[in-house]
Amino acid sequence: MITRASCLAQDAADPLAFLRAQFHLPEGIIYLDGNSLGALPRSAVTRVTETLQHQWGDGLVRSWNDAHWMTLPERIGAKIARLIGAGAKEVVATDSTSVNLFKVLAAALRIQAERHPERSVILSERGNFPTDLYVAQGLIDLLASRLEGGAESTPSLVLVEGSEELETALAARPALVLLTHVNYRSGAVHDMAGVTAKAHAQGSLVVWDLAHSAGALPLAVNEAQADFAVGCGYKYLNGGPGAPAFVFVAERHQERFWQPLSGWIGHAAPFEFDPQYRPAGGVGRYLCGTPPILSMVALEAGLDSVLAAEASGGMAAIRAKSLQLGELFISLVESRCSGRGLSLASPRDPLARGSQVSFAADAELGGGYALMRALIARGVIGDFRAPNLLRFGFTPLYTRFTDVWDAVQILSELLETRAWDRIEYHEKAAVT
Ligand SMILES: Cc1ncc(COP(=O)(O)O)c(C=O)c1O
Repeated sequence: MITRASCLAQDAADPLAFLRAQFHLPEGIIYLDGNSLGALPRSAVTRVTETLQHQWGDGLVRSWNDAHWMTLPERIGAKIARLIGAGAKEVVATDSTSVNLFKVLAAALRIQAERHPERSVILSERGNFPTDLYVAQGLIDLLASRLEGGAESTPSLVLVEGSEELETALAARPALVLLTHVNYRSGAVHDMAGVTAKAHAQGSLVVWDLAHSAGALPLAVNEAQADFAVGCGYKYLNGGPGAPAFVFVAERHQERFWQPLSGWIGHAAPFEFDPQYRPAGGVGRYLCGTPPILSMVALEAGLDSVLAAEASGGMAAIRAKSLQLGELFISLVESRCSGRGLSLASPRDPLARGSQVSFAADAELGGGYALMRALIARGVIGDFRAPNLLRFGFTPLYTRFTDVWDAVQILSELLETRAWDRIEYHEKAAVT
C-alpha cells in the first residue's frame, strides 16, 4: 500500500535526491512541467551574472577571444553529445529546434537527391509536433516553387498514423523519415534503432526530433545509426526559456553538403570576410549567425545540472527514477481519483513512455482545461494540450516521490469538491 510515509522512505533512499539542491524551486510549488520548461539551476544565475558583469561589462568585445565565446556552440555540443550517445564532434548548440530542422531536412534531401533522385517524399506522423510538419511544408513549398515548370518530381510530405501505417509507408521508400522520438502529447516512445534500421533497409534517411528525449532517457544515436537529430535546450536540459537548441549530424554525412542557412559563423574562416561561402569542416557548418552568449551560458549551466548525475549512475539512474515517478503517479491517480473523468492517455507500459504522463479529461470535466488552471492555482504546475490532455512531466533531478503524492492529493481534492469549476479557471490564457 502506497502512503505518504512510503513516498518519504523512497525519497530518503533516492540516490539522485542530492541533485535537487542545484535548483531554485519556489516554496509551495510542485513543478511537473520540466518537459516544457526545465527549472532554473542556481548556477545559471551566478554564471550569467558573471558573464554580464565581467565578461561583457569589463571584457567587452575582447571576451569573444578571452572568454572563448566563439567556441561555446561546440563546447556545449560536446556535452550534449554525452547525453545522446553521439561523438563530441557531431553536435553543436545553435538556433532553435525549428530552424535546425530546416537545415537538416534540406541537407538530407540533397544527399538523397544524389543517391535516389527519383525519391521526393518526406514521411512523418500526423501527430508529430506541428513545427516539424510546418518546417517540412515550408521547405517543400520552397523547393516546389523552384521546380515549377518541368520538374521531374515535386517533393511532398506524407503523414501517417500508428505503427502499421508507418511500416507500410516505409516500404514505399520515402527519401526521408522525420519522427519525434517521444511524442509531445502521449509521451509514447519510438524504437529509434528499430525504425532507423527499417528505414535504412529501404534506402531512406532518418531525422529524429529529440525535444522530449534529451536529458529524459538514455539515448544512443550512433548505436542506432541515426542520420540527423535535433532537440530543445529548454526542456529536460534546463537551459532556460528559448534556450538554444542542438543539432546532431552523423560524421558520415557532415562533409557531403552544406545546409542552406549558410551564415558567416558556419564559414570555414569567418574573419577572412571572403565574399564566397566556404563551409566549415564538420558539424560547424550547421552554425549560422552569432551565438547568443547569455543564453549559451545559461544552457551550459542547465546541461551541467544533468551531467552532475553522471557520478550517481547518469542517464540510466535518471531513467530508473523517472519510471518509478511515472508509475507512482499513474497508480495514485487511478486509485484515488477513479471514476472522476480521467483516463490514462500515455502508454501503460512504462518502457514505452518518455518522462511524462498524460491523462485525458472527459466531457464531465469540461475537457480538463479549467482543472489544470485550478491545479496551477493550488501550486501543482503541469500543462494542458487541447482538446483534453493534462500533461505531467517528471524531472528526476528535482522531483521527489512526496511531490507526486502531494500533487495527487491536491488533484483528488479538486475533483471531489469540483473546486476547479470556477469562472476564472475557464478563461483561456495565450499559453496553455
Ligand atoms: C517535439 C518538439 N519539437 C520542437 C519543438 C519546438 O521547437 P522550437 O524550439 O523551435 O520552438 C517542441 C516544443 O515543444 C517540441 O515539442
